Amino acid sequence: DWTPAAFVEETIERIRKEVGDKKVVMALSGGVDSTVAAELIHKAIGSNLYCVFVDNGLLRKDEFETVLDSYKHMGLNVKGVNARDLFYGELAGVSDPEQKRKIIGRLFIEVFQQESSLLKDISFLGQGTIYPDVIESVSVNGPSVTIKSHHNVGGLPEKMNMKLVEPLRFLFKDEVRRVGREIGISDIFLGRHPFPGPGLAIRILGEITPEKVAMLQEADAIYIEGLREAELYDKVWQAGTILLPVQSVGVMGDERTYEFTVALRAVTSTDGMTADWAHLPYEFLAKMSNDIINKVKGINRVVYDISSKPPATIEWE
Ligand code: XMP
Repeated sequence: DWTPAAFVEETIERIRKEVGDKKVVMALSGGVDSTVAAELIHKAIGSNLYCVFVDNGLLRKDEFETVLDSYKHMGLNVKGVNARDLFYGELAGVSDPEQKRKIIGRLFIEVFQQESSLLKDISFLGQGTIYPDVIESVSVNGPSVTIKSHHNVGGLPEKMNMKLVEPLRFLFKDEVRRVGREIGISDIFLGRHPFPGPGLAIRILGEITPEKVAMLQEADAIYIEGLREAELYDKVWQAGTILLPVQSVGVMGDERTYEFTVALRAVTSTDGMTADWAHLPYEFLAKMSNDIINKVKGINRVVYDISSKPPATIEWE
């Protein structure tokens, strides 16, 4: 029988044997998988694990600072890299979703390689790959039609010529969470909704500007905080806010406004492959709409996405 305790013990032992006194470099994303994988490797080899956490400017409000602090708190040997301007610069004027993903994937690799090259004598690359990533990357690269190119897997290892350390390669998400709980990872990481690698870039339909990112971060923070306060956060599988590329007329006091719309998204699901829109209470939606329109400058309309997957997808891009 599989138990988290036995898995943890065997895995730490195996990593120790495999890595010895060599060094491992690893990118952290703030998500469950990379965090649990890093902590397992950390338990095995301590400060010979070098972690890099990149701020691509597309994370949620205050997320970079908060998550970096938590990593340091865990005792991880981690470097935070502010690459916001690089990402904003290269994304300027780009509105095609796949193009955005490609740019973000490429820049991430560039920044990570640059950081790794500053470190000496690194022999291994740590990754938080889990079993569904392995399966999905096969179909993404295979003959079947690519719907969206996820960039969780691939890219890094081939280009970096390093051996991989992937302690979660045969685990499903719920097993990763159980392992995380076993090794004392905070609920801040374990209870988190999934968040796409390209971040808010694929939740800003059309062109990305730093101003739009800031606007969406504010709206998103109100929504996510609201879900937590209403004790709805754990009842949905994923939630987020999407900034639509249209402006519409509104009225504020006796002024006419012409501002942006955000769509609220919340879904229930078990694996993200199919999903139903979450039937959030009307009172809650009403409060979110009021709070967002009153507090976020530039937004005068809020809509709720009532589409399930399929035929829609969870993200809008
Ligand atoms: P969709 O929109 O395809 O999303 O229904 C399914 C799940 O995948 C996430 N997602 C991504 N994750 N890179 C990622 O790492 C991506 O490009 C990407 N696109 C979608 C999405 O947030 C949802 O959890």
